[in-house]
Amino acid sequence: MAAQSSIDWNDFISERGKRWQPSAIRGLFPLEKIPGMVSFLAGKPNADTFPFSAIKVDLKPIIPGDPVETLTVESDALNEALQYGATAGLPGLNKWVETLQEVRHKRAKDGSWRVSLGSGSQDLINKAFHSLVNDDDSILIESPVYSGTLGLLNRFQVNLIDVPVDTEGLDPAKLEHILSNFSELYPGKRFPKLLYTIPTGSNPTGATAPEARRQAVLALARKYNLLILEDDAYHYLSFDPENLVPSYWELEARAGGETGRVVRFDSFSKILSSGMRLGFVTGPKELIEIIDLHTANTNLQPSSTTQAMVSVLLHKWGLDGFLAHTRRVAAYYKDKRDMFGKVAHKHLDGLATWVSPEAGMFLFLNLQLTKDGTPGDSSSLISNTAVQKGVLAVPGTGFLPNGGPSPYVRVSFSLATEEDAELGFSRLRECILEARGE
Ligand SMILES: Cc1ncc(COP(=O)(O)O)c(C=O)c1O
Repeated sequence: MAAQSSIDWNDFISERGKRWQPSAIRGLFPLEKIPGMVSFLAGKPNADTFPFSAIKVDLKPIIPGDPVETLTVESDALNEALQYGATAGLPGLNKWVETLQEVRHKRAKDGSWRVSLGSGSQDLINKAFHSLVNDDDSILIESPVYSGTLGLLNRFQVNLIDVPVDTEGLDPAKLEHILSNFSELYPGKRFPKLLYTIPTGSNPTGATAPEARRQAVLALARKYNLLILEDDAYHYLSFDPENLVPSYWELEARAGGETGRVVRFDSFSKILSSGMRLGFVTGPKELIEIIDLHTANTNLQPSSTTQAMVSVLLHKWGLDGFLAHTRRVAAYYKDKRDMFGKVAHKHLDGLATWVSPEAGMFLFLNLQLTKDGTPGDSSSLISNTAVQKGVLAVPGTGFLPNGGPSPYVRVSFSLATEEDAELGFSRLRECILEARGE
């Protein structure tokens, strides 16, 4: 039986979202599956003319020196891999991901939610905003926040309402203050319908919101009739996978009562390959259907070729094998964090502060740019001096929804060797000392 929802989707779906029509061709694709159906439907190219006879994928052995395993996509699976296919992703992969979501987030398949695959989670985040946002809407957005989301929001004429985060992510007290005083704080602005947050190993702050905060934020979403857009690109890069903080999507079901307020974005980019461009959205079917209409009318589907490669891998691994892989990836980044943090302390103690992240791939350094403790702005230092000295990082201002000065800088440890860290942080140290006139 479907879980309860009191959400009036008519209020939430944007005017643009409501305008999509089923694609004249794709809308009929499901009928092709009826046994015995002859289909003259799609202008599908004949796969006999394609030059590929198989896709063979070599897997790195888990234990170095073990034999390389080859996975092969051939015959029917190859046809599917090379052909136009279902808008929401290859059915076999979509189903696998749905089961992953069911097990990982403890949500029974009750018919109220669905999964759709996209060309990376960015594609789906973009489509979700398109489906939900009208011009002049107000959007609650954690600040600082992933600059890629700010980039795609730029094209809408919206009011970005900053909700400040601290070392534990979104602060429900600050969110409540904004919501309960909205008309005084933002006179003439529309009351928000959406809250966008990156709850695990946030880009850029590295913060992970603890369960109690998530529960409090969820309660506010119910009280104030908000949808939560949970961008969890770093979910599988949690350094303590045995004590995972439950996702918003899990918590909304666990809390009992209404569900449907959380839309969750996952990404294969950080755990399988970012070049494959595969991510998935999970959420209330009413919204996922609009996202699918967007896909069907624009880029048609995510690449079936990379989906087929991922599908053959995940079916071979099974859920346990996949989760074991993600634990190895998380352990890899945890070691990197430890190394990077150690070298950062060696060079930057007294010149910067930061909190060691529990997930993800970023340190967010608060640079002490002045001797008297007044906060400075890292922009020119990082964009000019640091580049001249040979170190690249991202100034904090780029992550502020409404711009402004920031003493912070985001440094990523995903690719850094210890040698890189030594060199980079010693150069950064020189820059900070120069700014401080030391
Ligand atoms: C917070 C966040 N969301 C989404 C994305 C986009 O990821 P994908 O490669 O799945 O599109 C990124 C990429 O860095 C990210 O940091």
